[in-house]
Amino acid sequence: MSKVYVFTAFGGPETQRLIDRPVPEPGPGELAVQVRAAGVNPVDWKIRSGRYGKQTPLPAPMGQEVAGVVTVVGDGVDGFAVGEPILGPVVPGYGAFAEDTLVRAAEAMAKPAEISFTDAATIPVAAATAYDGTHQIELEPGQRLLILGAGGGVGLMAAQIGKVHQLTAIGVASPAKREVVESTGATFVPSGDGVSDRVRQVAPGGVDLILDLVGGDALREVAGLVDDPTRIISAADPGTATELGGTALHRTAEAMEKITAVIEYHLVDPHVSAVYSLQDAGEAIGAVENGHATGKIVIEVPGA
Ligand SMILES: NC(=O)c1ccc[n+]([C@@H]2O[C@H](COP(=O)([O-])OP(=O)(O)OC[C@H]3O[C@@H](n4cnc5c(N)ncnc54)[C@H](OP(=O)(O)O)[C@@H]3O)[C@@H](O)[C@H]2O)c1
Repeated sequence: MSKVYVFTAFGGPETQRLIDRPVPEPGPGELAVQVRAAGVNPVDWKIRSGRYGKQTPLPAPMGQEVAGVVTVVGDGVDGFAVGEPILGPVVPGYGAFAEDTLVRAAEAMAKPAEISFTDAATIPVAAATAYDGTHQIELEPGQRLLILGAGGGVGLMAAQIGKVHQLTAIGVASPAKREVVESTGATFVPSGDGVSDRVRQVAPGGVDLILDLVGGDALREVAGLVDDPTRIISAADPGTATELGGTALHRTAEAMEKITAVIEYHLVDPHVSAVYSLQDAGEAIGAVENGHATGKIVIEVPGA
């Protein structure tokens, strides 16, 4: 048997728990993976809340992004071997907060030795989203990128990518995150009432692109900082972004490989701010669900 962290009913965190299940067996095209680390994302609690529908069979394994070691190679898989460290998004329904899970070979990649399992576990969802959010509309060096929610998992990596591209990144976050946002090279602007005016103080002509990682009223307040509303991209709230004339952030297949190379060469640090054990997965999810995480939260699972 093998442990997996699940929720047993849609709603709050009270039905989350660690249960035993048979070790998942890979189907054709899949890899069985012994999990070494799993990144925690807002989508984990959002699925549990039922906001994306209630079709998921229960109990529902939690967690989407993983790094681990291949234990079994499914039929028809080329290019991966037992014992190889990999990273990737998990096969839906199997969960990343687990001792063992499944990853589709077509969506997996070899984990570079330079990148720890803990950092690698932040790549398939968070780092890849930061990559896509900074490449969907490409800016020229010196242009201004406003990141709303700059101190979180995606935001800190997006700010660092902005630096790689020689953009003028402006990071909006709560005052406690000033130092960490500035460490990326971004200009820090405190969130809250009047944020738009504060951004204008550092960027009098407004900005060239808004990458929204918060949504709702926070997005509405800064939307006027771009002359052209199509230059609003939202990972957090596509509905509000579209209403304002912007677009949803579109995920691409190549992002994971591209950002892995950037992390491998130490140009972007996933900024893991806290690690938890699988037994404490509920605390890890809660640290993201409170809405004010700094960088990435990761669950580590000891190797055999
Ligand atoms: N579409 C996709 O494929 C995709 C993929 C990944 C993530 N997402 C979404 O993108 C969003 C960000 O993800 P994440 O992993 O970076 O989340 P996260 O780690 O929880 O970070 C969110 C950040 O937003 C900040 N924040 C909250 N209210 C704010 C406000 N009014 N102004 C400025 N900052 C504020 C929070 O801290 P402070 O308030 O303390 O600054 C926190 O640091 C989430 O909605 C997530 O679901 C979408």
